[in-house]
Amino acid sequence: MSITREEFLKTTAAAGAAYLLTSLEAFAIHTPDKKIRIGLIGCGSVSGQYLPHLSKSPFVELVSACDIVYERAKSRAAEFKIPNHYPSVDKMLAGAPFDLFVNLTDMQEHERLNKMALDTNHHVWSEKPMANSYKAGKALLDLAKSKKLRIWSAPAVVNSPQFAFMSKSIREGKLGKVSSAHAHYGHLGPTWSAFFYEKGGGSLPDLGVYNLATLTGLLGPAKSVMAMTSIVTPERTVDNKGKIKVEAEDNAMVLMDHGNGVISHVQCGFNYFDPYGHEGKGQDKPTITIWGTHGNMGLVGYDWAPYGVDLATLDHEQAQRFVPDPGEYVWQQGASVISRALVENTEPLIAAEHALHVLEIIEAARESGKTGQRINLVSTFKYPVV
Ligand SMILES: NC(=O)c1ccc[n+]([C@@H]2O[C@H](COP(=O)([O-])OP(=O)(O)OC[C@H]3O[C@@H](n4cnc5c(N)ncnc54)[C@H](O)[C@@H]3O)[C@@H](O)[C@H]2O)c1
Repeated sequence: MSITREEFLKTTAAAGAAYLLTSLEAFAIHTPDKKIRIGLIGCGSVSGQYLPHLSKSPFVELVSACDIVYERAKSRAAEFKIPNHYPSVDKMLAGAPFDLFVNLTDMQEHERLNKMALDTNHHVWSEKPMANSYKAGKALLDLAKSKKLRIWSAPAVVNSPQFAFMSKSIREGKLGKVSSAHAHYGHLGPTWSAFFYEKGGGSLPDLGVYNLATLTGLLGPAKSVMAMTSIVTPERTVDNKGKIKVEAEDNAMVLMDHGNGVISHVQCGFNYFDPYGHEGKGQDKPTITIWGTHGNMGLVGYDWAPYGVDLATLDHEQAQRFVPDPGEYVWQQGASVISRALVENTEPLIAAEHALHVLEIIEAARESGKTGQRINLVSTFKYPVV
């Protein structure tokens, strides 16, 4: 039976605050005409991509905007007609009620803020990474489960029709026995904020994360990792702090063993001249290639903004380009997609376990880079994804 929001609130008006919160969470998940009320934190660069998408979603009501640089919260609130704005997480969590915490802050802040959101009974969509370590991220997921809440984190690459096409081609055996894959993504690095280069930042969680999610999504969870990481540019000048020392890797080469003989490689960095730049527009060459005994396949464009798939096989040696209908996929759709899934009570393709697996790979790559050792992984996720 579905009831209106007003009826629901009337019937629960007498109940205590704790009961109301629990009931609202259940309501959020089971009532089809419900909109997910969002409190968004971090009103910097990427919020300019999320908010236009969220504000068009019929499954979303934007309730609050928050940033420690208060002017940013006020200005995004005005721009997207968000009724409440706050200068701190404590004020937002104690302010107007909402269902989903959308965390677009500095990478190093995600873990602390995501935990506060779960502790106060909110679902979480986090930009990557979900936490500063795999262990802390797993603890967040366990906490969410114990409270019947949900947590997810970017990227949303598994949602693209190009990903689905590649996954299907592999499963249908078009490539024969898959052996190897390569993926790369890099540019000259963000210029606006220091956190990308500080401890806990780096090109792996900012850029490599997309390729790692794509290759594990296509080839299966990695069993072990070997890597080299380095710092190419030891000092940078950024808008919010001026001249800074670079502490996190700005150059990385990661090898993954997916089992059954399948080995893949991801390279990423903040020192890649790339005429397509941070925007990635116009990239018309493959950035991901997968080889097997009967064929090979290249993803044209970046995995977060893909265009087509080039496929050459024993039966058709001349590569053919397949351009799937892009549908609704854009990289910044994650929070909108999981809002819809919460309303309709469906399971999205994006999975917290997959994001945590990628986080474990990133940590392992750093450890391997430091010690020269091959690092075994413990995490896994539901595979195949599509
Ligand atoms: N910029 C992009 O195009 C882009 C694309 C994809 C993903 N991302 C990811 O999005 C996240 C944010 O990146 P960005 O480029 O928007 O950075 P940004 O520096 O432009 O924005 C981050 C904002 O968070 C605010 N903030 C930091 N700590 C806070 C706290 N404790 N409480 C409230 N506000 C806080 C900062 O004041 C800033 O306004 C990162 O995880 C990044 O990897 C960015």
